[in-house]
Amino acid sequence: MSVFELHGRKALVTGGARGLGAGMVQALAHAGASVVIADISEEIGRATAGTLSQSGLAVKFVPLNITDEASWEAAISLTISELGGLDIVVNNAGVEISELIIDLTPQNLLRMLEVNILGTALGIKHAFRAMRPQGAAGKGGAVINVSSVAATIAFPGIAGYSATKSAVDRLTRIAAMESGKLGYGVRVNCIYPGLVPTEMGTQLAVDMEKLGLYPSPQAAVGAVIGLTPIGRLGEVSDMADAVVFLASDASRFITGIGLPVDGGMGM
Ligand SMILES: NC(=O)c1ccc[n+]([C@@H]2O[C@H](COP(=O)([O-])OP(=O)(O)OC[C@H]3O[C@@H](n4cnc5c(N)ncnc54)[C@H](O)[C@@H]3O)[C@@H](O)[C@H]2O)c1
Repeated sequence: MSVFELHGRKALVTGGARGLGAGMVQALAHAGASVVIADISEEIGRATAGTLSQSGLAVKFVPLNITDEASWEAAISLTISELGGLDIVVNNAGVEISELIIDLTPQNLLRMLEVNILGTALGIKHAFRAMRPQGAAGKGGAVINVSSVAATIAFPGIAGYSATKSAVDRLTRIAAMESGKLGYGVRVNCIYPGLVPTEMGTQLAVDMEKLGLYPSPQAAVGAVIGLTPIGRLGEVSDMADAVVFLASDASRFITGIGLPVDGGMGM
């Protein structure tokens, strides 16, 4: 068996109903894993799980609000009983609200802090509790957090979002350190995706025009591409394949890193 394969592994992907998360679910399942979509959007999540199952992949849906501790406890326990274990947790769910610092709205920033930082931190916590030797799954594994190229560059209009994604980067490294030192057997890494035209990515380009930073969404996209040596936007599969790598034994000696998947934009 190739070290890139995931046969027999059990995975949970937050925000897996659509966008980057749905692509990660599909790629993990293609690599052989059984996967749970854990999302606050039940209708879209169940539909995505249904479509992927019909194409022969082992994908189920579990409701989850990542900002809620009780919801995490229920989702992890349901996942372990549905899949028979848990080896991979992808903390992908996130929100982005563009605004200029001069117009910063406390509730917008608090919303991003809650989902992107608290939600990811709770995801790491409950992954550790389940996957460490005395946990309900108990076999160690891999956690992959989704940060952003926004944590590595200075792009106007996304200060609050960038701050939360920088926090995801730090959470990742300290989690990797604690897991190693305390013998949890869980590798923890993050990726920094470049701009991908999902609902979030497309809205960001629209917001750049609304904020008066670029004359049109196309101009904002053009600016991003101009900053990207590979010369295009990211694709969902670019992010998904990086997650499969970090989930697999091919990355067995890698922990505590942030992997740019951004066409070189953040170098
Ligand atoms: N699209 C991009 O250009 C881009 C670039 C860099 C990083 N990212 C990051 O990648 C991740 C996925 O982005 P996307 O573009 O697919 O976004 P998206 O908005 O298309 O999808 C986000 C998903 O997360 C779910 N979600 C939101 N809040 C939740 C909560 N509290 N609990 C559970 N699920 C919740 C949504 O229902 C949705 O299914 C995010 O963390 C985002 O910040 C995206």
